[in-house]
Amino acid sequence: MWSSRLAFILAASGSAVGLGNIWKFPYITGENGGGAFVIVYLLCIALIGIPIMIAEVMIGRRGERSPINTMRMLAQRDGLSQRWSWIGWTGIVCSFLILSFYSVIGGWALSYTGHAVSGVFSGASADDIGAMFGGLLSDPWTLLLWHSVFMVLVIVIVAGGIRSGMEKAINILMPLLFLLLLVMVGYALNSGEFMQGFNFLFQPDFSKLSTEGVLTALGHAFFTLSLGMGVMMAYGSYLPKKVSIVKTAVTVSIVDTAVALLAGLAIFPLVFANGLEAGAGPGLIFQTLPLAFGQMTGGVLFGSLFFALLVVAAVTSAISLLEPVVEWLEEQKGISRLSGALIGGISIWLLGMMTILSFNEWANFFPLEFIPAFEGKTVFDLLDYVTANLLMPLGGLFIAIFAGWFMSKQAVKNQLGLGEGAAYQSFMFVLKFITPIAVATVFIYNLS
Ligand code: PFF
Ligand code: NA
Repeated sequence: MWSSRLAFILAASGSAVGLGNIWKFPYITGENGGGAFVIVYLLCIALIGIPIMIAEVMIGRRGERSPINTMRMLAQRDGLSQRWSWIGWTGIVCSFLILSFYSVIGGWALSYTGHAVSGVFSGASADDIGAMFGGLLSDPWTLLLWHSVFMVLVIVIVAGGIRSGMEKAINILMPLLFLLLLVMVGYALNSGEFMQGFNFLFQPDFSKLSTEGVLTALGHAFFTLSLGMGVMMAYGSYLPKKVSIVKTAVTVSIVDTAVALLAGLAIFPLVFANGLEAGAGPGLIFQTLPLAFGQMTGGVLFGSLFFALLVVAAVTSAISLLEPVVEWLEEQKGISRLSGALIGGISIWLLGMMTILSFNEWANFFPLEFIPAFEGKTVFDLLDYVTANLLMPLGGLFIAIFAGWFMSKQAVKNQLGLGEGAAYQSFMFVLKFITPIAVATVFIYNLS
């Protein structure tokens, strides 16, 4: 059991806040034209993400088991089909796939921590910084080295079961990351094209938003909040009965959103001040932030700290991805935690090679090109698309339907602790109708 509400919030935020906020959010916002995308993303967080997080935590707390067993047990208790346990299974597959590329990007952050410490950013031009990133991507062996270092870190932590030991450190490090982001926004205020960056993020131009952009925004709401795959369900199983699920879910979501928006506010002013491309893609933060670190006073210190803390944030999210895989191996295959962490971790590490090659040798290899939705997508693009835009929203859809329509009403009322008044009624209306219809609509539009 978590000793308090705060402990749960820290653990859930540890999973939520990661590369999704600082690496992915800015680059997909840039690729999808800014403001309109951000508004749709924020709507998805509020109307889809938060209700599904509440549903997941509520299911988890009632089940008090790992996601597969929780779904199995609750379905049985409420007289429902055992197929509901599929939600747990797809969650394991999803964790596996996500971690395989997440670790490669975590490796980029590790490599950039090294760059920052060495001082190579000092006085570098936008071209130098761009070339540095291009050099990293084109070199599979260096990518493999950092991907391996990242996976070893994650495997060691999960195998050792030393998560709780780390929690104290994380309590200090995550607020520090937040503070550093504020420093970066401050730098952007003084020396970047701040207003241009601000307007790019918050002034909507809906003509720039495509149907696929809407799906990307929806998928990112799931990715960034770690939803639709049972991770929050697993955390919920440790939440004490007296804690308000609604308040905690809202808090975690606000923290996660704040980190993403701060990252955007730190990065886009730099993009415009340096004549860079907002739609530069996955390298965006690695091509902008080093410019700021290279110019600001204390840049070596701030830069080193920033990338190191980004690694920490990525590792805490990665732990929440490996954990379910290991737990499943332990339960189903009856092997030890150490073997589980090794078998799971090494398989994921191997799969990670596909992402590494996507940035160089396989940059023009589009394996599922014959399917229109997958046209022009590398293996990395596919892994990202299939997990964030398909599997997670699908898992979330079924979680919302389970909690809204199938789970015992009395159990839902007890878990929510909202009484039976207007707050409860409106939440249930959103969960039963708005959330599933919104997810289904975005899906149908994209598939047709
Ligand atoms: N939410 C994490 C991020 O924004 O970086 C990524 C993630 C972690 C997704 C855990 C899914 C998950 F289960
Ligand atoms: Na996140």
